[in-house]
Order: sequence, then structure tokens, then C-alpha cells
Amino acid sequence: MKMGTARWPRNAEIVEMFCGRGNGLHALSNLGFTRLEGVDLSASLLAQYRGPGKLYVCDCRQLRFDDCSKDIVIIQGGLHHLESLPGDLEQTLLEANRVLREGGLLVLVEPWATPFLSFVHAVCRNSLARRISKKLDALATMIEYEGRTYQQWLHQPQVIRHLLQKYFRPEQYKIRWGKIMFVGQKRAEFVDY
Ligand SMILES: C[S@@+](CC[C@H](N)C(=O)[O-])C[C@H]1O[C@@H](n2cnc3c(N)ncnc32)[C@H](O)[C@@H]1O
Repeated sequence: MKMGTARWPRNAEIVEMFCGRGNGLHALSNLGFTRLEGVDLSASLLAQYRGPGKLYVCDCRQLRFDDCSKDIVIIQGGLHHLESLPGDLEQTLLEANRVLREGGLLVLVEPWATPFLSFVHAVCRNSLARRISKKLDALATMIEYEGRTYQQWLHQPQVIRHLLQKYFRPEQYKIRWGKIMFVGQKRAEFVDY
């Protein structure tokens, strides 16, 4: 996770939304962060986590944390599973904004439509490539089963950018290798362009 973690205090209160089985929480724990929490809708995925973080079965569109109670919110590969855009995305970003303290950070990594991603999708359609690479096979399977929300996400870059900047002041904004990497500071007052 190269998103400025070296600068974050090790006792920062960090929440990973859409944490699944907690891969991100393990990475944060290995980096020395001690106050970790994870939220996911799937009780069965959360049950696979073995680590020091506290976990909550909860919809990320409606968090159970107090206002202004966390320092950093992280999202990795969760937003493209939301059922409806822009409504669910706005609700989720509003919640991330609400639970963050003044100056708090949203850190997110999600797929992004780039020529490289189109190339990867083309390779995914090749059955030999799928047999050779587990990563490609996993992506191809995800596209088969969750294609609707994934495509919905990839086809609305302007809406997504607009909402990210409405609720968070961008500090890092990179699009490369088929991913968006965004770090933004909580806005106290929302900005509509
Ligand atoms: C691709 S997984 C990402 C897992 C994790 N972030 C990682 O990097 O390993 C997407 C996760 O989003 C969760 N999810 C989907 N919609 C959700 C929602 N509305 N609220 C909370 N979790 C949700 C799913 O249960 C799933 O675990």
C-alpha cells in the first residue's frame, strides 16, 4: 500500500470499508498500525480474518461509527460492487466523510477504464491465459459473475470523479495500470462543480 502510509501515525484510527477477508488489514498491521477496524456485508468473508483488527458486519452505505471518530478510511476494490451509481456511491462517500475527523483521509484504489485495462480484459477472454494465470482467471470470473456493477463503474468516470472531489479535497490522484489511486482530505463543506 504505497499511499503515504509512511507519514501516518501508527496509532491512527483506521477503518477499511469493504474489507472482505481482511487482506488490507493484514498489510496495515504488518506496517505497524495498531487501531484497525474493518467493515463488510459478508459475515462469511469476515469470519476468515485472523488478525488484531475489529470487524463489523455492516453495509458501508450506513456505518455504525460516530461522526468525526476516525482518522483514515480505506477502500480497495469495494466501490465497483455497489448496486447503483451514482446513488450508492454518494451515500458511501457521505458516510466516509461523516465518520472522519477534521483533516481525515479517504484512501481508495479501484479499477479504472484505461487502454491497459481493455488489454487485460481481452487477455481474460483467452482460455489458455486464464489457465496460466490465477490472477487473470480470478478477474475473468469476477467479470462473469459481477459484470453489471463492474461495467457500470467503469462507464461513469466523470460522475465518480465529481463525487470524490465533492466530498474530499484531492491530495493524490493517479490513474495507471487500470486503476485509480485517490487520497483525499475530508471536506467540511461540500463542493459541487
Ligand atoms: C472485491 S471484494 C474486496 C475485498 C477487500 N477490499 C480486498 O481488497 O481483499 C468486495 C467486498 O465488498 C463487499 N461489499 C459489497 N457491497 C457492500 C456494501 N454495501 N457494504 C459492505 N460491504 C460490501 C463484499 O462483501 C466483498 O467482500
